[in-house]
Amino acid sequence: MTEQELCKTAADMMDRAYCRYSGYPVGAALECADGTVFTGCNIENIAFTPTICAERTAIFKAVSEGHRDFVRIAIAGKFKDFCVPCGVCRQVMAEFAPDLEILSLNAEGEMKRFTLKELLPHGFSQETL
Ligand code: THU
Repeated sequence: MTEQELCKTAADMMDRAYCRYSGYPVGAALECADGTVFTGCNIENIAFTPTICAERTAIFKAVSEGHRDFVRIAIAGKFKDFCVPCGVCRQVMAEFAPDLEILSLNAEGEMKRFTLKELLPHGFSQETL
């Protein structure tokens, strides 16, 4: 899948978001080293804390299907600011893919590129323990 296709897949996933409390739909598309793509959306809950972000939905789907080798993830939001992953999602990404590339999209479909190391410097890692 091209980078553009991965971004479009993430953007399309915003339609699946269950975001009745925030009104902020997020879509994600996670690419594995073998080319498999797992998608995700945010799924909110009236009790708030059970809410899961789009990125973790995609990552947990992938891991539960036997995939752990991730190359990049596209994340799409519907506001003018670029949709960057929250701290919890960064930590989950670091568990499996410290060198992950992150493609953040805004409502206009513009893209900003990050590495996970840029977004989570000095993270708590397996080397720390
Ligand atoms: N959210 C994501 O799904 N991913 C992000 O990168 C940022 C935040 C979700 C969580 C919640 O459902 C809504 O966006 C507002 O925080």
